[in-house]
Amino acid sequence: MTWTLHEGDALSVLTEMPDACVDAVITDPPYNSGAPTMAVRTGDTARGKYVSGDAKHTLPDFDGDQRDQRGYLAFLTMILTQCYRVTRRGGPLLVFADFRQVPVTSDALQAAGWTWRGIVPWHKPIARPAKGGFKRACEYALWATKGPVDATRNPVYLPGLYSASQPRGTNRRHITQKPDELMAGLIEVVAPGGIVLDPFAGSGSTGVAALTTGRKFVGIEISSDYATVTRERLTLAS
Ligand SMILES: C[S@@+](CC[C@H](N)C(=O)[O-])C[C@H]1O[C@@H](n2cnc3c(N)ncnc32)[C@H](O)[C@@H]1O
Repeated sequence: MTWTLHEGDALSVLTEMPDACVDAVITDPPYNSGAPTMAVRTGDTARGKYVSGDAKHTLPDFDGDQRDQRGYLAFLTMILTQCYRVTRRGGPLLVFADFRQVPVTSDALQAAGWTWRGIVPWHKPIARPAKGGFKRACEYALWATKGPVDATRNPVYLPGLYSASQPRGTNRRHITQKPDELMAGLIEVVAPGGIVLDPFAGSGSTGVAALTTGRKFVGIEISSDYATVTRERLTLAS
């Protein structure tokens, strides 16, 4: 079996996994971003926050995006602590954040034991202009490792910036989907044949990149709608 998908809560599933059973973690958690007030945090959904009003698709919403900064720090620290335990020594972590959540994400990964190594911007060529200021054209993958970088196992020299457009039309399966080209680039930080874990699988983009580049995949996804999409995409990719 080159892939496994657990349908359920990330923390509950991770807690049941054995120590050092994966080679890397690449994940895109619910950002819990852009909610300065209680009304927005509790009233707005992920779709309300991250999908523009003129979007044509009717893709499902997802839960888990209503935490304030302290709540998100606690939640992400618990998740990344379990991810650290289940990753072998030297293994890399990539965790996505938008500009607002870079500080809390770097706090969480370090509190969880990871050694923070850098930030890899994902540039989105098509981004809304911002009147009076700068276009927010990037999201970020924070890069960390469990202990020293294992360059002997995977002697790559990777770019420090990736540019790729969000999937469109029938290729768009999730409201915050990451592009396949982006994920296929990022996954090179994992040695070929390695097992990649994504505890917030969404539509399975990390898994598709893993399978199409000769790696293995373990995913967790709480939404049954999105777990179904992930299974479809992984079956096609394997
Ligand atoms: C930002 S999206 C990931 C999108 C993914 N990178 C893709 O390209 O399709 C985050 C996902 O985490 C899932 N999620 C939220 N809370 C969760 C939890 N406690 N356990 C597992 N999955 C969860 C959501 O349902 C959502 O699909």
